[in-house]
Amino acid sequence: MIIAANLKTNLTRKQTTEYLNTLDSLIDASNSTQEVLVFPATSSLNPHAGKVIVGAQNAYPATNGAFTGEIGSEHLAEFGITTILIGHSERRHVLGESQEELVTKFNFYKDLGFKIVYCVGEPLSLREEGEEAMMKYIDAQYEGIDLNYKNLIIAYEPVWAIGTGLTPTSKDIEDLHSKLKEKCSAPLLYGGSVKVANAKEVLGLKSVDGILVGGAALNVEDFNTMINFAQEIE
Ligand code: 13P
Repeated sequence: MIIAANLKTNLTRKQTTEYLNTLDSLIDASNSTQEVLVFPATSSLNPHAGKVIVGAQNAYPATNGAFTGEIGSEHLAEFGITTILIGHSERRHVLGESQEELVTKFNFYKDLGFKIVYCVGEPLSLREEGEEAMMKYIDAQYEGIDLNYKNLIIAYEPVWAIGTGLTPTSKDIEDLHSKLKEKCSAPLLYGGSVKVANAKEVLGLKSVDGILVGGAALNVEDFNTMINFAQEIE
């Protein structure tokens, strides 16, 4: 399975290095064979030689250039980064990235052969409007994305479940994931308030190929426990 941690705007470079080194030792000790991805804050990136795959939370679709405040692909190359998160709800809703911009970013990093974790998910208002409105909204997030791209991973993260402690029921996750699987056969992760207390149940669902964890992954032991759950289940 794929067990991913989005560290968001947390952990300094020093803390991130400690985190990654601890995580690698824990994974080595447990002989885990799970695919583990960690997305640190941009300024905390560093070359990392271990089992954990380090990815970028964001980058601009350019090698370099006049894009104040952004980093380009050559800045990722400096750290050996070939994995990127695209379309996270915080980038869509807090930073205002449009579907068009996300498609440009997706295509740029696809052309470089990056592993891309592409996020989709609906706000609460859409879920409350009902199935049809919700699926229409999620469908639009797939527009322009090459669903046959070999290094694609999809993460379904309902916006209302992120950082709130709320999660859909297992049946809701299973139903929604089954629908998303029909659209695309790429591995499908669930994200949104996953923690030690619910990770086993989520990972046990048939249509879940892994998890994308935010807040609960900041504790490295807890994140490692979730990796171990995946190992037990597989
Ligand atoms: P939480 O696990 O904190 O809800 O965040 C999920 C997330 O946004 C991962 O990308």
